[in-house]
Amino acid sequence: MPPHRKIFADLIVLLLLVLPYVNGYWIFGGSKPLVTTRLDSIISPGVVSSHVHSIVGGSRFSPTYSYEDLIQSQCSTVTVQQDVSNYWAPQLYYYDQGQGTYTPMPTSFNIYYLSRPGPENEYINAIPTGLRMVAGSPLRRVNNASNFADQAISYVCLDYTTDHTGDPAWDERADFFQHQCPDGLRAQVFFPSCWDGVNLDSEDHQSHMAYPIQNYNSGDCPGTHPVHLVSLFYEMLVSVDQFSYASGSWVYSFGDNTGLGFHADFQDGWINKTLLQDALDNCPDANGDVSACPPLNAVANDQAASACQPELMIVDEPIGTISSPLTVLPGCNPLWIGTGPKPTCDPVPATPGFVDAKSTLPSGWTQLGCIAEGSTGRALSSASTTSPVMTRPFCANFCANLGYPYAGVEYSDECYCGDTFSNGASNITTPWYDCSMSCSGNGEYK
Ligand SMILES: *[C@@H]1O[C@H](CO)[C@@H](O)[C@H](O)[C@H]1NC(C)=O
Ligand SMILES: *[C@@H]1O[C@H](CO)[C@@H](O)[C@H](O)[C@H]1NC(C)=O
Ligand SMILES: *[C@@H]1O[C@H](CO)[C@@H](O)[C@H](O)[C@H]1NC(C)=O
Repeated sequence: MPPHRKIFADLIVLLLLVLPYVNGYWIFGGSKPLVTTRLDSIISPGVVSSHVHSIVGGSRFSPTYSYEDLIQSQCSTVTVQQDVSNYWAPQLYYYDQGQGTYTPMPTSFNIYYLSRPGPENEYINAIPTGLRMVAGSPLRRVNNASNFADQAISYVCLDYTTDHTGDPAWDERADFFQHQCPDGLRAQVFFPSCWDGVNLDSEDHQSHMAYPIQNYNSGDCPGTHPVHLVSLFYEMLVSVDQFSYASGSWVYSFGDNTGLGFHADFQDGWINKTLLQDALDNCPDANGDVSACPPLNAVANDQAASACQPELMIVDEPIGTISSPLTVLPGCNPLWIGTGPKPTCDPVPATPGFVDAKSTLPSGWTQLGCIAEGSTGRALSSASTTSPVMTRPFCANFCANLGYPYAGVEYSDECYCGDTFSNGASNITTPWYDCSMSCSGNGEYK
């Protein structure tokens, strides 16, 4: 081979080695919300927030908390149990025009951790301990296509069977589509990755962070915000396809039916920052896959993530379910159509209080925990029922009406009653994560 060919071949090898590092990333895919409630510990600390959010991550999410409180979380709804950060965004509802009702649409999140340096190839740092930030704004009513903060909010309409390339009506865009999305809607938000190096939060929850110089999603950091952090990107996947597009519309919990007001919040809860930096430094080839990154894989537990339940307070009000939609969005959030100011409420609705997220049982009942059944029959064998809207209170009331002191839910929609544990079941609780099926009536675990 002539010498110049050899050099060319070496260059290709080098490029192959460098490029994957630049694009190194992992995804906490399919993360389920921990809770859906009218709280926002960053924008409205300690009080009921103005609209309902879908909140992912650490189980000690609370109306107000510190990093130190949060890292006491028992579990996280993201697979890596050493990350009890909270990730949240407004809940998207389906507004049924005929019925005048609002139904919260099923939602899950893909949380991306991306290494996105620019031409200077800056070092990508772990998130500083306790960082909080917000991207986007519920007040935004116009799109400025040359503004990085606006570019950072976008939508993708999912259709796995038909290729819509070249059709502008299906292009990734800044606001809601004007047609159905047959495989769901993806609402996307890219957080700024450049930190001022000093402040863990700021008055507007944004100005301690900045987008890179060249682009909203990659590039070198400006002198005002010189510390390049790992880039956070959320995809909120909403099952809009389960609701008729012809007879309704998509409305955020704050009344917005344009989609421009999408926003998201992040509260750091990485327990071990060395672990996060280790993953950033050493998993250039993870290609999104947590299991391809040994330090993350060692602390990943999908079962714990799927069983994870909120430990503290939620707001004491219904947020709607598919079987019982709302006629009014929680808070003061009338339908907000067009670019005018947000409509007001007269009278202003009363503000509800907080309730323990775990104590949803009727009075007189206490939770004993999760028990293992024996192999010869039901642990509680005196009476039973099933229901598509099964919850722990539903089952407790059913058993109480028949005079039984014990009630237990199983397989999502089954309820069993008894005076004692039978058929080899012992009165010893097993770890909470063994009860990993959610109740058919409210998605709560039992
Ligand atoms: C749009 O954004 C660019 C870049 O941030 C800014 O210079 C410009 O003033 C904005 N335009 C409007 C109408 O706000
Ligand atoms: C934190 O993570 C590092 C790197 O993965 C690991 O070596 C260390 O043991 C962890 N520390 C604790 C307290 O778990
Ligand atoms: C099970 O244990 C609880 C708590 O120790 C106790 O109150 C209850 O009486 C026990 N029930 C049975 C059926 O043994």
